[in-house]
Amino acid sequence: MQRTFSIIKPDAVSRNLIGQITQRFEENGLSVIASKMIRLSTEQAEKFYAEHKGRDFYEPLVGYMTSAPIVVQVLEGEDAIAKNRQIMGVTDPAKAEAGTIRADFALSVRENSVHGSDSPESAAREIAFFFDEKELCPRN
Ligand code: CMP
Repeated sequence: MQRTFSIIKPDAVSRNLIGQITQRFEENGLSVIASKMIRLSTEQAEKFYAEHKGRDFYEPLVGYMTSAPIVVQVLEGEDAIAKNRQIMGVTDPAKAEAGTIRADFALSVRENSVHGSDSPESAAREIAFFFDEKELCPRN
């Protein structure tokens, strides 16, 4: 079993897509073991996306991620990181495979509806960024 970190981003929360997106995870074998809705501060968004600092999309990304609430989740399942990335589709919705979340719901490369960890190291860092260990509720 593996864990990954997911964000349902402002564009999706604003369009009432929390349920439909979570359903895609659950029907593909991923279980939600932690979930909360939050509004990111600028400081939190800057820190979370620090690896992109200096890229041309960094400042608009921080503005977008703080523009409305988000839902942060921890997903658990077999090969959760790769499975979630497959369910999401690639970053740019115009290039995402049909049937993926980004192909079906995303508005643009920035407003791309979901985030998912890209490695076990990122997953551990991102989960710890938003959740205390005691907030995780594994199924067993
Ligand atoms: P994600 O991969 O979850 O984390 C980085 C985010 O930056 C990405 O989703 C997009 O929301 C955004 N992003 C990445 N590349 C670009 C780009 N070329 N233009 C605008 N936004 C981008």
